[in-house]
Amino acid sequence: MKKMWFNFKIVWLLAVAITLVGAGEICHSNDLKGLEGFRVGIRSDPSGRTETWTGRGCCSWEGVTCDNATGRVTEINLPGLFTSDDVPVQTSMSGVLSPSITLLTSLQAIDLSGLIDLTGEIPPTIGSHLPRLRKLALSGNKFKGTLPESIGKMSELQELYLSENSFTGSIPGSIGNLQGLRMLDLHSNQLSGAVPESITKLSNLERLELQNNFLTGSIPGSIGELKCLKELDLSNNSLSGRIPSSITRLKIVSIIYLDNNHLVGEIPRLGQMPSLAFLRLNDNNLTGKISYSFGFLSSLQRVSLANNALHGLIPSSIGNLRSLTELYLHNNRLSGQLPASMSQLANLLIFSVSYNLIEGPLPHQMAALTNLQTLDLSFNQLNFSNIPKWLLKLPSLSRIFLAGCNIKGGLTEDVLTTPSPLQELDLSANHLTGSIPGWIGKLTELYSLNLSLNGLVDTIPGSIMDLTSLGVLDLHSNKLAGSLEWGYKGRSLTFLDLSDNSFTGGIEEIGKGTMQVDIQYINLSHNMIKGRLPDSIGRLESLKSLDLSYNSLDSELPAALGNASSMENLKLQRNHFTGKIPDEFLKFKNLRDLDLSSNSLEGRIPYGEPLIDFPRGSYLGNKDLCGAPLEPCRP
Ligand SMILES: *[C@@H]1O[C@H](CO)[C@@H](O)[C@H](O)[C@H]1NC(C)=O
Ligand SMILES: *[C@@H]1O[C@H](CO)[C@@H](O)[C@H](O)[C@H]1NC(C)=O
Ligand SMILES: *[C@@H]1O[C@H](CO)[C@@H](O)[C@H](O)[C@H]1NC(C)=O
Ligand SMILES: *[C@@H]1O[C@H](CO)[C@@H](O)[C@H](O)[C@H]1NC(C)=O
Ligand SMILES: *[C@@H]1O[C@H](CO)[C@@H](O)[C@H](O)[C@H]1NC(C)=O
Ligand SMILES: *[C@@H]1O[C@H](CO)[C@@H](O)[C@H](O)[C@H]1NC(C)=O
Ligand SMILES: *[C@@H]1O[C@H](CO)[C@@H](O)[C@H](O)[C@H]1NC(C)=O
Repeated sequence: MKKMWFNFKIVWLLAVAITLVGAGEICHSNDLKGLEGFRVGIRSDPSGRTETWTGRGCCSWEGVTCDNATGRVTEINLPGLFTSDDVPVQTSMSGVLSPSITLLTSLQAIDLSGLIDLTGEIPPTIGSHLPRLRKLALSGNKFKGTLPESIGKMSELQELYLSENSFTGSIPGSIGNLQGLRMLDLHSNQLSGAVPESITKLSNLERLELQNNFLTGSIPGSIGELKCLKELDLSNNSLSGRIPSSITRLKIVSIIYLDNNHLVGEIPRLGQMPSLAFLRLNDNNLTGKISYSFGFLSSLQRVSLANNALHGLIPSSIGNLRSLTELYLHNNRLSGQLPASMSQLANLLIFSVSYNLIEGPLPHQMAALTNLQTLDLSFNQLNFSNIPKWLLKLPSLSRIFLAGCNIKGGLTEDVLTTPSPLQELDLSANHLTGSIPGWIGKLTELYSLNLSLNGLVDTIPGSIMDLTSLGVLDLHSNKLAGSLEWGYKGRSLTFLDLSDNSFTGGIEEIGKGTMQVDIQYINLSHNMIKGRLPDSIGRLESLKSLDLSYNSLDSELPAALGNASSMENLKLQRNHFTGKIPDEFLKFKNLRDLDLSSNSLEGRIPYGEPLIDFPRGSYLGNKDLCGAPLEPCRP
């Protein structure tokens, strides 16, 4: 025991000695020159890491790693997010990446990701000079210029992270030479042109992220060759054409056991891409159908094909995707009925198929989706009449979107009996009639309620004040009347749209009492609201949009409104507001949209930004307003 301890001490001492020698060692002159050049490019480094870069022993500098056999620099690690004494630190760095970095010819890894303000270009010769590079991470900066063709010469490259910069031009075809590449992340740049077909030669690729660029053309036909791919994200580009059949082509054709012509069993069928778990092709211009063999991508967990122009049926094979947790198909032209096999998606949490041409009836087998939390069927050709009873019995469902589903009659009390408390309910654009029932106040976990565009009448029941979690209330375009319940107790309301109804009063309470001061959007336009806009409105400091247009408000404009300094959009036109525009309106530094037209305002428009920047139309139709941008006032 004692001897071991002694040995350990010697080893430790030796290690310290080696480190000390290393620190004193003068590093390779090209490496030193390269690092000094890099440092000159950095204008500021609040983390202080490059402050240790003095003397000639560059192997001991912070963020620099050397090979202790050759003494050459192998790594530069200065990411924006790092840990110092076990505490995570987020820092930035400004300046320009010096091309002298290409002098460090033994580099295997460069990590300058997340430094926010670093700019410059990738040196065009990087590939010829840094052939040993395994990892290049420049994400989350302000790099610009094109991706150099020479990248294809870095034959050892395994990880390339260039996302969230301002790179332009096309993806160089030479990228297909990087046979060892596992991670290719170019998302959120301004890359254009086609996805090079050569990318399909990257047989070790596990993650391909090209989303949020301006890529055009079709998805490379043989993308299905990428057998190791786990994550494929091409979303938010301008890709067109079909989803390549190679993605879904069968590798092992299923064997079906038949016994006296009865199907008795089937071995699982494997698609070409056995590891693909995340597939995002949404927000493109893809056409064609979702092929039957899509159901063979058996590892899929999260899929979005939303916001394209796909048509045809949802294939029944979708039921094979047993690992699927999220499926987004909204805003396409998918038609026909939902396949009954969907009931096999036992892990499905979110299903969105709104804005398609799906027809009813829904397969009642869907009652087996016991984990489903969010279901959006809005705006299809569903002709429900009532909310299907089995749907309200789904044990995990708490977010229901059934807008534009032709639901008729009164709001049924069944929505109180859902096994999971409702958090979001959207029954907008249906044919709901009658009044909003008092029991609505029992939906105590409700965060968002959208009953807009229906035929609801009467007043809003006082029990709505019991919805203490309510953040979003949209009741616009109904026939609701009476006074507004401004004694509203909900502390979480951020969005309120009661426009286009027949409300008549209650505006005096706005901003008073415990009404939420975090509200950002209020729209009460197109009602018949009379009365005085109170000073208390100035308490709503988070308010960004206030629309009271097309009412009968007849007070002066409260000066205190200027205290609502987050205001971006203020619409008060078509009322009977009198008096002068308060000087306090000059405090609206973020105002982008203003309409005070068609009131009874008079006097000089307070001179200054932002009020002089709006067009004349923002002020026309008043009693006697003058001053820029209208005519000068009479002396
Ligand atoms: C280089 O140094 C590191 C840490 O000091 C040590 O773990 C490693 O074994 C050394 N490599 C060689 C080749 O000496
Ligand atoms: C789509 O990509 C463009 C270009 O990078 C970006 O400006 C935009 O914010 C992206 N949209 C979304 C929803 O991410
Ligand atoms: C999508 O494709 C259609 C027809 O090819 C074209 O008219 C349209 O402009 C494209 N839209 C986008 C956003 O690329
Ligand atoms: C919707 O269903 C109702 C009755 O359930 C029926 O009268 C009506 O014709 C249907 N409408 C459409 C467009 O299918
Ligand atoms: C409520 O539904 C309508 C119609 O479906 C929609 O236009 C509106 O954006 C929804 N409101 C909110 C707050 O999402
Ligand atoms: C307020 O609602 C009206 C009618 O529903 C609509 O036309 C208007 O655009 C809305 N205002 C804002 C600022 O969203
Ligand atoms: C508006 O803000 C000023 C200064 O912060 C304050 O004195 C005044 O009382 C506020 N007015 C209202 C009505 O909140």
